[in-house]
Amino acid sequence: MSSRNVMNKIRILAIETSCDETAAAVIGEENGQPVILSNIISSSVDLHSLTGGIVPEVASREQMRFIVPVVAEALNKSVADQFLISNSKFLIKSQNPKSEIQNSIKLLDDITHIAVTAGPGLIGSLLVGFNAAKTLAYAKDLPIIPINHIEGHIYSAGGGVSSKSKVQNSNQIQNLNIKSLDSRHSTAAHGLSEIEDLRGNDSHVSDFPLIVLTVSGGHTMLVLMKDHGKYEIIGAAIDDAVGEAYDKVARLLGLGYPGGPKISEFAQKFRDKFLISNSKFLNKSQKPKSQVSNSTIEFPRPIMKDGTFNFSFSGLKTAVLVLTKKIIAEKSLNNATEINLDTKQEIAAAFEEAVAEVLAFKLGRAVEKYLPKTVIFAGGVSANKYLVEGIKYKVISIDQNIKFLTPTREMSGDNAAMIGIAAYYHIARSDVSAWRNIKVDANMKLI
Ligand code: KG4
Ligand code: ZN
Repeated sequence: MSSRNVMNKIRILAIETSCDETAAAVIGEENGQPVILSNIISSSVDLHSLTGGIVPEVASREQMRFIVPVVAEALNKSVADQFLISNSKFLIKSQNPKSEIQNSIKLLDDITHIAVTAGPGLIGSLLVGFNAAKTLAYAKDLPIIPINHIEGHIYSAGGGVSSKSKVQNSNQIQNLNIKSLDSRHSTAAHGLSEIEDLRGNDSHVSDFPLIVLTVSGGHTMLVLMKDHGKYEIIGAAIDDAVGEAYDKVARLLGLGYPGGPKISEFAQKFRDKFLISNSKFLNKSQKPKSQVSNSTIEFPRPIMKDGTFNFSFSGLKTAVLVLTKKIIAEKSLNNATEINLDTKQEIAAAFEEAVAEVLAFKLGRAVEKYLPKTVIFAGGVSANKYLVEGIKYKVISIDQNIKFLTPTREMSGDNAAMIGIAAYYHIARSDVSAWRNIKVDANMKLI
């Protein structure tokens, strides 16, 4: 692929709408490797927090509103000189939508492939992105690559940055506010230099065998990869996914939706009370500290030592429920939301500790058995720094030569760049389709 001349360089427009996000990205190619040129995400999470969870029809209606502006924005941003520097205006709010639309339409001429999430996910949501992608493939006569959402998460830790991107310092990036589509939407476009800062130069998914622990609201999986596209599921959740357990425990404690970030914030507050440094798992000698040794609460580690690579988290969630019921009865409270803040933080920390230990233990066993060259921790839950540090420590303590990859904060949740990066490797092995032949599948399996 590196012999491709400039005119034939791969340029993928990727679309992802499997859950509540409307996302589009452009992936280019440099030195035979995929590079992220733009990555636009519009989330309706604030809307869902009002109902305590995703209402599928609300999600897909919002996606219908935003799919075209988000695609146009991804195209326009892909050629911006200073990625993220200009104050982006989505077309829906733009002062001058005509010229921005025209600009994005022209940029479609440079696209060589369309990539789209084909499943798994909410069918109404998937259909929005899928139909948009199919229509673009038809109108521009382009090959299309349907991507499994979980495969996208696997590749979220890969993908480089374009050398044309100007390096800005992270302060500059943080100060740039991409305008929201409207007050209910949070929207983000992610700076290449930020990705570069966090990833270093060696973030490509390239050294096999590789083990992926991918953990989100919908799945928990340990996957062995012997090459691009060669997946073997060695373990999976037999009941609740980790993110789902976080969300349920948060709801139980009245912390709102989505629960993952809330629980991790509460857990950190508890740990902070007993730790001087902020380094959580690691002290100066790189040895993990028992951060919750000050806690009297200890939840079970379900099926941790059953000899398989499977996971079970519904018993853990039930243990939290049983404990909260006990506290409610003992203190004559009306419900769990009345439990005091300190106790909620302690429960969150004990819950997170059980999750961290189970994930690290099972992944560690897989590493010992399969001797991978690379380990990836991905999925929405990998936004959790405490889990990342614990898991990384576990892997490196087994073999410090293992390359450990995890997505940036922005790439850990659902986004289209990961779909485009996964598609890049399909293109490399000529695994592309015609728009007539692709199908959406809400229950799509990885293999
Ligand atoms: O990958 P993702 O964005 O969507 C799915 O494919 O499900 O993952 C979303 C999940 C949610 O359950 C959310 O609570 C969880 O990821 N999550 C977290 C954190 N941030 C998001 N879980 C634990 N700690 C976090 N910091
Ligand atoms: Zn996801």
